[in-house]
Amino acid sequence: MRVTWDPARYLSFADERQRPLVDLVARVRTRDARLVVDLGCGPGTAAALLLERWPAARVVGVDSSPEMLARAARVASAPRVCFEQADLRTWEPDGPPDVVVANAVLQWVPDHVEVIGRFAGLLAPGGSLALQVPGNFGAPSHTAMRRVADSGRWPLPAGLLRESPVLRERPVLEPAGYLSVLTGLGLDADVWETTYLHVLTGTDPVLEWTRGTALRPLLEVLGDDAASFEAAYAAALREAYPPDAAGRTVLPFRRIFAVGRRPGPVDG
Ligand SMILES: C[S@@+](CC[C@H](N)C(=O)[O-])C[C@H]1O[C@@H](n2cnc3c(N)ncnc32)[C@H](O)[C@@H]1O
Repeated sequence: MRVTWDPARYLSFADERQRPLVDLVARVRTRDARLVVDLGCGPGTAAALLLERWPAARVVGVDSSPEMLARAARVASAPRVCFEQADLRTWEPDGPPDVVVANAVLQWVPDHVEVIGRFAGLLAPGGSLALQVPGNFGAPSHTAMRRVADSGRWPLPAGLLRESPVLRERPVLEPAGYLSVLTGLGLDADVWETTYLHVLTGTDPVLEWTRGTALRPLLEVLGDDAASFEAAYAAALREAYPPDAAGRTVLPFRRIFAVGRRPGPVDG
């Protein structure tokens, strides 16, 4: 299903969403790059970091969402950057990429292990593929969403929870799974996980967070029923993530990182 993204809402947690990208890119050891690909580039927020890190590279951002790319157009005027609207499952770069970044996108792609294999096969010698996916699908933010959706109170298409990538119980692999995929592809692998403790403020901040991401496929199909669904979901979230006396809500957010490097002459 096509998800309609709301870049402004997604960017309302820009700092928290950018942090894993910074941590991911810091572990890429490919030094000299001419072509850097940003798969699922969203609103183009990674471009500045990628341009700075690889000053001789062209950065190509690929995304299927016209809404996200309209926002990315604001940075498209920077030299060495361009954006293309395409499905990353079939998109082909115009040469062997030195660095492929897939930050917070592969959880949306049902056969993402195949995507990893395809881009690993395209890497230039010494090139790196760096991915980050959320590892929080068993957290209350997601289990409560599935529970409310499963309650039968809202008319949801049969199979939505099974088929929609981020609503499934296990859309991503565990860290050991990515290690095995990357080494099986002949790459040197560096895999780890981190749980960030995001300190959020305001009313129902976890609901606001998921409205920008995982809740989107549900909101899309709920239409006029979205408000009553959100009210039930928000009540469950308030119980799972109670604010403290100062109004701060802590959202623990586990993320999984994997960097695979093809041995070659530009090793760092
Ligand atoms: C959570 S956002 C991440 C955006 C950006 N990478 C970041 O770190 O902020 C996920 C992005 O992946 C894009 N996306 C999901 N599936 C895709 C696909 N099959 N092909 C291209 N882009 C896709 C969405 O349109 C969305 O912009």
